[in-house]
Amino acid sequence: MRLSRKVTAMALASMMAVSMMACGSSDSSAPATTAAPAATEAAKTEAAKETEAAKEAATEAAKETEKAVGAGGSIGVCIYKFDDAFMTTYRNALQEILEGKGYTVSVMDGKNDQAEQNNQINNFITQGVDALIINPVMTSAADQIIATVKDAGVPTVLINREPTADQMSAYDKLVYVGCDARQSGTMQGELILDTPNKGDINGDGKVSYIMIQGDPENVDAQYRTEFSVKALTDAGITVEELDLQRGDWDRNKGQEIAQNDLAKFGDEIEVIFCNNDDMAIGALQAIQAAGRKVNEDIYLVGVDALDAALNEVVNGNMTGTVLNDANGQAAGAVEAMEALLGGKTYAAGEQSIYVDYVKVTPENAADFQ
Ligand code: BGC
Repeated sequence: MRLSRKVTAMALASMMAVSMMACGSSDSSAPATTAAPAATEAAKTEAAKETEAAKEAATEAAKETEKAVGAGGSIGVCIYKFDDAFMTTYRNALQEILEGKGYTVSVMDGKNDQAEQNNQINNFITQGVDALIINPVMTSAADQIIATVKDAGVPTVLINREPTADQMSAYDKLVYVGCDARQSGTMQGELILDTPNKGDINGDGKVSYIMIQGDPENVDAQYRTEFSVKALTDAGITVEELDLQRGDWDRNKGQEIAQNDLAKFGDEIEVIFCNNDDMAIGALQAIQAAGRKVNEDIYLVGVDALDAALNEVVNGNMTGTVLNDANGQAAGAVEAMEALLGGKTYAAGEQSIYVDYVKVTPENAADFQ
């Protein structure tokens, strides 16, 4: 049973009850004016009672609405794939918040397959969920996802993979909750600028780096790649890109890319930028295997502030990372979902809600552990 619809129906029914009662009372009192005054009074009292009863029914219906959506509403959650370190933290936070609020939650693994996720969305719609929270497999599928949920009239919160404002404007019961990935890229660049030699370990007047990218279809990967380097060039630093490769957010791929590049470029590499921590942890394994030492002869930065990365920052094996606030985003997604369930709609151009990133260094890493 889709509660949001039930809710609207209940509210409508009680409003109609009030207006029908009001009509009934004037009808019954109209002929009474020409009849005996006692009859008029009786009719009025009766009408007043009926109106009062209708009001009470409306209040009860409103209470039911609150109860129904707040406890026992059913929510479908689609995650692009379960086998993603950051999204595992995120989905656990989401599930905990939703269940803590009394919702019935079903979380599906899209297995990095958009066709599979489309089926899951359709199944949720058939089951009549009250709202959907979707982490799309492919941002390029956003148009189709939005058309589907709009057609079904299901309030939807998109997370983690941001579509364009234009795509979202197709449906006013849809909102994106995430972060502005440009900010995380800039912070990664600042982490390098904050080192004693601003990243130029060998003092040759330029910062030579390799970039290990997430899935480039995802705007997070695009912006982090661009803005990390931009922070350096904006500060007047000359940079040299030795290599840029996609590691698809994956630890093993991060390890392989770093291993090959360390073999190929050796000491020329001064900085390894990774679009996320999981790839940075992989890169760290390659750095250590190559006998290099982070913060002495190479710098390494990631994004997310996974527990493993926080430990490495504290131990000096990562230069720094950037908190991608899974808990904050999960709480924001639930808040936006509840606003939608409460009837809120979002105007075009106002459909992205951002949670801030935080720069993480050895000084503040413990705050996030
Ligand atoms: C995170 C990555 C994650 C990706 C999934 C990014 O925001 O930083 O760790 O793999 O989202 O889409």
